[in-house]
Parts: sequence; C-alpha cells; structure tokens
Amino acid sequence: MFFLIAKKRFAFIFVVLIAASSLNSIAGSDVASTAVVCAPTSENINAGDLSIFSSASPPAHEIREIAWLVLGISAAIFVVVEGVLVWSIIRFRKRARDAGEPVQVFGSNPVELAWTVIPTIIVFVLALATLRTIREVQLTEAPEGSLNVDVIAHQWWWEYRIPNLDGNGTIVTANELVVPVGRPIWLTLQSADVIHSFWIPQLNGKTDIIPNHANHTWFQAERAGIFLGQCAEYCGKQHANMLLRVTAVDDAAFKAWCVHQSSPVVSDPSVEQGRDMFLNLACMNCHAIDGVSGGSFGPNLTHLMSRTTIGSGVAPLNPTTLRAWVDDPQNLKVGCNMPSLELDPNQLDAIVAYLLTLK
Ligand code: CUA
Repeated sequence: MFFLIAKKRFAFIFVVLIAASSLNSIAGSDVASTAVVCAPTSENINAGDLSIFSSASPPAHEIREIAWLVLGISAAIFVVVEGVLVWSIIRFRKRARDAGEPVQVFGSNPVELAWTVIPTIIVFVLALATLRTIREVQLTEAPEGSLNVDVIAHQWWWEYRIPNLDGNGTIVTANELVVPVGRPIWLTLQSADVIHSFWIPQLNGKTDIIPNHANHTWFQAERAGIFLGQCAEYCGKQHANMLLRVTAVDDAAFKAWCVHQSSPVVSDPSVEQGRDMFLNLACMNCHAIDGVSGGSFGPNLTHLMSRTTIGSGVAPLNPTTLRAWVDDPQNLKVGCNMPSLELDPNQLDAIVAYLLTLK
C-alpha cells in the first residue's frame, strides 16, 4: 500500500488507520463475548429474551451501557479506517501517466506520535468506563434490604436456598427461583462439583462459580416476568441444558410462594404404594422430600409439581415428561447423573402417581 503514497502527509493517515484497526479488533472482541443473543423457537419452553440489550435490572443496565459505548467507539473506528482506506485506494490507484515508483517514505515523528497517542487515549477511556461498570456490577457487600439467596450449582442443575420469611428455616428448591420485584437479590454462589457460571443476561452479567469458594452477585428485577439464563462455563456433557429460570412477582405473590414452599409435604394415602417404592428403591438416596427422605445429590422434590420444567429446563413438567424422565432420564438429558432404575410399567405408574401429588 505504501508504495502508492505520493506525498508524505498521506503517510500520517495510513498510520492512524493501522493503529485504529488494531484497536478495533481488541474492542470488537469484547463486544462479541458480551452481546450474545439467542433465537429460541416458539415451542421452546425456554423461549425468552436472552439479550443483554433488554436489561431489566441495575447491573444489567450498566452492562448494556458499556456494551453500547464499546460498540459505538468500535463502529466509529471502523467507519474512519475503512472510509480512508477506500478513498486512498481510489485516489492513489496507479494511472497510465504514472512513471516509476512513487515517493518512498521512511520514518516520521508526527506519525509515530499519532499512532501512539490516539490508541492510548481510546484505551484509557474504555478502561475508565469499564472500571466504573465493574464497581456497579460487582458489589462487595449485600445491598441494603436485600434478600439473600444461596445458589449451589450441580452437574447439571441449580439448587436454591432461601431464608423463610418468618426467619424459621430455609426454603430449598431447584432450577426455578421466584423473587420479589424491586427488591435487591444478593446471591451467594457455590459449586457442588466443577466450575459453573451464573448468567441471566437481562438481570446481570456472568459470575463464575468455583468449587470451595463462595462468589457473590446481585440483581434487582424491575418488572414482573420470567427471566431466563444459562450456565456460562463449560461444565460437562449437559452444560448446554443447565438452564436458569427466575420468575419475578409482586410482594404478595412472593409471600404466597414462600408460604407454599415451606408448607409440609402433601401426604396422600391413595399413592402410598408409590411412596413406599420411592423409599425402597434408590430414589431416596439422592432426592430429599421433607419428612420422607433426605438425599442431597439431586433436586429436592417436596414441592416438585409447583415447578414448570423438568431436568433444569430441558422440558415442560407434566405427567408425560415426568413419566419419561423416571423411566429413563437419559431419554431427555443424555449423560445426566440420574440412572434409569429399569422399573416395570406398574412401578413406574405408582412412582409417577406419587410424584404428581407433590404439589
Ligand atoms: Cu454448569 Cu456449564
């Protein structure tokens, strides 16, 4: 390209172009890793907005703003670089009247200064903006009036522990978290096995979940609705099906949810046979049902049927999917840690009938 430059002053422009395009690639990669948008199908139980650009929580707003800033600066650099490049190609193309080589340019103080100073200023601006965002997004202590929720990531599902409203005991549930609108939610993130990452794009950015180390994150849903997310750190075979589901509701509905979740397990004598099988087969070793069994390896099933999905969001929860799951979980979630117990149809019916009463 340089051999086409006829006059010294154009060397300056090219230098700026090269410096700017290298910066563009750096800034561009930041955006690519942040702005992931998925396009779910309409039948998909997890159809929802996973865009960071439709934020609905203070830290998510901060992330959206810096994403736009980085995108804007990158776009400006792109337009300037490509514009001058195209202009130069046309303006300085070889013509019939040109004889021999153009003037050769070696070294220039203004050019060296420009390609050092301009990118430095841009990087400085981006660094300051990023630091400010990190301060807002990663609080070091729980915001005032927050609800404290313990999140325990398992291969490949989520366990939630929420202090009961009356201060007595803890609500334990799985995969579907219900929170009150407008109240800060302070999450303590822990792992039962490998590294996972908690990410609900509309509520906050990713926070890694490291074994033997508690991390924190927070959000505050500004409107009622379902907010979907995804484990964002590869954690094994079913990483892609380790889905997050947060439902934000008003205060009254949240209280009602807490009361229901902390109510004693339903005991229906008509499904006693299924309950006995649950206790006599391997089910009870992994699953807790308050007052019935105490396993902790799999999700707590005390109020199983109050949830809308099964297998951490792989399918809607209904009698058909529940039966398919108990028959062989590998049907719905290949590689998950629950084995098929190879039950005969009568055993299957009895256990599913029992589980369906766990409202
Ligand atoms: Cu858990 Cu990926």
